[in-house]
This record gives sequence, C-alpha cells and structure tokens, in this order.
Amino acid sequence: MIAVINFGGQYCHLIARKIRELGVKAEIFSNLISAEELNELNPAGIILSGGPASVNELNAPKMDAEILKLGIPVLGICYGLQLITKELGGLVKPGKTKEYGKNFIEVKGNDPLFEGLYNEQVWISHFDAVKKPPKNFVVSSSTSGCPVASMFSEEKNIFGLQFHPEVHHTPNGKKILENFLKICKAKKDWKISSVLNEMQKEIKVKVKDKKVIMGVSGGVDSLVASVIIHKTIPNQLFCVFIDNGLMRKNEKEYIEKLYKKMKFKHFFSVNAEKEFLSALKGVFDPEEKRKIIGHTFIKVFEDVAFDLQNEFGKISFLGQGTIYPDRIESAEPSETASKIKSHHNVTLPEKMHFDLVEPLREFYKDEVRKIGQKLKIQKEFLNRHPFPGPGLSVRVLGEVTKEKLEILREVDFIFIDELKKEKFYYKTWQALAALLPVKAVGVKGDERDYSYIVALRAVNSVDGMTADWTRIPDDLLEKISSRILNEVNGVGRVLYDISQKPPATIEFE
Ligand code: XMP
Repeated sequence: MIAVINFGGQYCHLIARKIRELGVKAEIFSNLISAEELNELNPAGIILSGGPASVNELNAPKMDAEILKLGIPVLGICYGLQLITKELGGLVKPGKTKEYGKNFIEVKGNDPLFEGLYNEQVWISHFDAVKKPPKNFVVSSSTSGCPVASMFSEEKNIFGLQFHPEVHHTPNGKKILENFLKICKAKKDWKISSVLNEMQKEIKVKVKDKKVIMGVSGGVDSLVASVIIHKTIPNQLFCVFIDNGLMRKNEKEYIEKLYKKMKFKHFFSVNAEKEFLSALKGVFDPEEKRKIIGHTFIKVFEDVAFDLQNEFGKISFLGQGTIYPDRIESAEPSETASKIKSHHNVTLPEKMHFDLVEPLREFYKDEVRKIGQKLKIQKEFLNRHPFPGPGLSVRVLGEVTKEKLEILREVDFIFIDELKKEKFYYKTWQALAALLPVKAVGVKGDERDYSYIVALRAVNSVDGMTADWTRIPDDLLEKISSRILNEVNGVGRVLYDISQKPPATIEFE
C-alpha cells in the first residue's frame, strides 16, 4: 500500500487514483497521522500531497516530521516538497516569478525517479519555491522559472517534485509515479476483485447484524452501491425508490424491473408525485425549486423509514452511492481544502441519526463502472447518461405542472429513443430536452397553432465541469424534430442548443 498524506490539494485524490491505475493499492490519510500510526500500517511508500497553503504561514498544515525518519521511501509533491525542505533544514521562499500551467523541465544527474526520462513537459502551479535544498539533497531538474523543480536524497530515500506528476498535463507523470513505485518495491496486486472483497469486509464489520436503508434512483452510483451492500447483507438492506413525479417516461417500471431481476429481498417503490407537485405549485425560481425538492425528499424518506422501522425493527444505517467527486465538491476530504459547492448526494435527513455506509466514497465514476462490470451489472445500466437529482423539474423552465411534465416526458423519450436507435446515444456524454415556458405560433393543417417550444441539448464532456455541444448529424436531428412535432401534442417548435459550458450550464436551471 502507498499512503498518500493529504495537505488539502485539489489533486490529492488523483494521486491515489493514478497509483491504483498502476496496480498498487493507495490510501489517503489526514496530515494529522502520526509516524507511529503510519508505521503500523506498513506502507511501501509515502506520498505527501500538494496543498493551497504556504509552509511559512503560521497555520499551515504540518506533518509529524518523524515520518521522514521511518526509512520508508517518501515523495513530496509541490507543498509536500516544500514541507520536506522546511522540516529537513532547507529554505522555502516566494519564488521570483509565480508559475502556473505548462512548463518544461530539464532533467540532470541520476535521480531514479526520472529513469528513462529526459526533458519533459510538466504542469506546475506554485508561488513558493525551494531556495535552498536540505543538506545532502541533489537538485535533479529545473524549469526556466524554478531552479529546484525536483530534488532527492538517495541516502534518505526521499524525493520531491515542485510540479504535479498526477495530472493529465504532465504527459509522462505516470512514468514518474511508476518509477517511485519501483523505488518502493510496491507489489502490483490491486485488483477490482480485491477491492470488492475489502468493501464487503468493511460493510460486515461496520453494520454487523443491523439494518440499512437506502434511497435508490436508478443512477449508476446508487445502483452499484446498493448491489455491493445487497451482495454482502441481503436480508438487512431496505432499498427505497421514491417516484417524485419528475422522472422520465417509464422510469419507475424500469427501476422496479431492474431490482426485481437482481432479486433484492426488500425493495420498495413509493409514489410521491402528489407531494412533490403540490409543493412545487406556483414556484418559478430554480433555486427555490431545488430546495423544495430536497426538503420534500427528506420528508417522504423519513415517513418511509418510519413505516419500515415499525414493520421490520430499528434501522441504524443509511446507504449512499456517494462517490469521490461528490465529496470534493462539498470539501469533505480534508479540512484544508477550499469549499467549491455543496452537493445533493451528501445531504442527509437531518432528524434521523443514521450512520453512513458509502462503499464507493473513494472512487471515480469510471472506477464505479468497472466495479459494476465485475458485479455483472448490465452495461445498459452502467453507461446511462447522467440525470439530475431534481429530475425534469430543472428542465421544465419556470413553474412545473403535470401537463408540462407529460409533454416533456414524451419529447425526452423520442429524443433518447432515436439516439439509441441510430447508435448515437453513447457518442454523446449527456442528452436532454427542456420545455420553455413560452409558446410560438405555427400552422397545423389549415389551422393556426399556438404551442410550446422545446429545446434539445446534447453535450460532450469528461466530467460535466466543462462541455461542448454535440454535433448530431443533420438528418438525425431532422428525424427527431419531425417525430416530436408529429407525435407530441402541445409542441410547436424544436430548437437545438449550441451553447458551450461555460458560460451556459448543461441543465437549463
Ligand atoms: P450543470 O447544469 O451544472 O450540470 O452544468 C453538470 C452535471 O450535473 C448534473 N446536475 C445535477 N445532478 N443534482 C444532480 O444530481 C443536481 O441538482 C444537478 N444539477 C446538475 C447535470 O445533469 C450534469 O450532468
């Protein structure tokens, strides 16, 4: 195992992920871990992550300096490098110039971290820099603006990089991490199957014979998490699907069939359309709509949990499909990270005192899909486009009514159906339809028509943070538009959205 110590850097988790991609187990620890605790875990190597602070600030996150004396190979990245420097008697000061972004290093000497590498493109982002390395450390690369881009001490087995090997923009960064794993003599035995075994062991130890309730939505994360928990404690898991009336066409039946097929012992589907739609009546503001949906969900979920406890006895745990990016957005992973935005998945029913079971909390979406494949969940379910928690309510602009939802459901169904038929569904990252709260004039037969305008949107993206509009072929767009206009009552015009994110977002609200 490689221990990654978190100093609050936004790429900390990416380091662990890259190590796992190289076949070695990686775990993230708080910077408060002691040398003794770490030594007991017997890691093959230790990586000190980057972080937003300056090591010279009074309240900068610290480390137990004894860690550097354990004799275990250490790699410090950015803040990690500066901390090593400071702890071992070198000097860190603000650099002459700030460096942000792409640069090139010139490799010198025989740092084993750079075995097979010479002059490399790297991604570097810092204000402070190492002015004087600690005694017996050798500088092994520099950039135009940073004389100490890396350093190492062969005798101490300690290495430091000012740049980030874990990011995509350091093309040979993975090779550097691989060289570090070689230095650590780390065993490449990290496999999805062993991860699954560990998750199951952890669930058993945590839950024992108690009960777990879990809200499932049909999305990949809650699906995979529920399958793992079910596989481990089939009789103790109670899955609840709340139909909020804001789902896509046939979604309820689809999810019920899916859980039935997987032979879940306790699966409950609850129709709460009335509660949601009456709470949304007369509400136009998008944020207000989201808030109402969140509160209504908690209320309905509490009622269901109460009923289930009456019937089956006390429920102690809440299962969630939280994945790592949900936690980054809520700044949960470390006290030192800056908060970006809160995320619905981490919201808990406030009045309920459940402990959490979150088997996927360390993983990224593509890793979750791989775990899902290992669990033999059909690809069709694992590779669905993302769908927002507040459902179609963020796609019916303005006030949500049953009539508008029904129109939108039909439009969305035709759009997705055609994309699938023409094998275009997997060529786009997410496709959706939105109903605009305005009508336009048209002519149907010999009659004047006055109907709603719908917008279709399909985007290419990697993580939903930025997105470009998908170039759907003209003839496919034409087919979709003419089906919508012919088959859906109440729609008079179809638009295609060609906005990028930013400045637009993927959803309309
Ligand atoms: P935006 O609209 O912010 O969407 O560009 C980015 C991605 O996140 C999804 N999304 C949500 N998912 N709850 C969710 O679970 C939400 O409130 C929410 N808002 C947006 C959106 O579908 C896209 O994939």
